[in-house]
Amino acid sequence: MELSAAIRARRSVRKFKKEIPVPAEHVRTMLEAAMMAPSALNTRPWEFYVVTDEATKQRLLQAHPACRLETAPLAIVVCGRPDKQPGRCHWPQDCGAAIENILLQALDLGYGSCWCGCYPTQPRTDDVQKVLGTTAVPVAIVAVGVPDESPAAKGFYDESAVTFIP
Ligand SMILES: Cc1cc2nc3c(=O)[nH]c(=O)nc-3n(C[C@H](O)[C@H](O)[C@H](O)COP(=O)(O)O)c2cc1C
Repeated sequence: MELSAAIRARRSVRKFKKEIPVPAEHVRTMLEAAMMAPSALNTRPWEFYVVTDEATKQRLLQAHPACRLETAPLAIVVCGRPDKQPGRCHWPQDCGAAIENILLQALDLGYGSCWCGCYPTQPRTDDVQKVLGTTAVPVAIVAVGVPDESPAAKGFYDESAVTFIP
């Protein structure tokens, strides 16, 4: 899909065709897209946890009840590594850029997705961290799968949000 069209066609999808898995090569393509994102001083302060097994998805749902994994066959949990940016705090922004790349790549591969935020909400962030067994900081759970709904667009151009500085 052409990039301008993809940006405008993206929606948060919350219902998926559970029985259709996401093949490994597509997971790899989404992870590669994530890792092509810009990062402060090119520190790449991220880690990615790929979850497909039902028991772990259920545990993620308990930690984050709105993480849309009831029907999603795949979750990519994007985590930050603050230790890779000593004295700086840009890692949440860097992870956000990686997350958006996953959403757009998923769309281009024919999938729907939903960005389900973790950090800095507590105890959600700590709870998801425990499920993953990591010291990295969960920034978002991205639910991915073949869409089973067609949500209306929520994005729009809002002139009031723009100031042109002469
Ligand atoms: C930081 C962040 C956190 C979000 N967390 C959730 C979430 O926990 N659950 C959910 O269903 N959607 C979540 N969303 C999706 C937003 O609700 C959605 O992007 C917004 O309503 C606009 O809809 P659209 O994505 O279809 O344009 C999140 C989005 C962002 C950027």
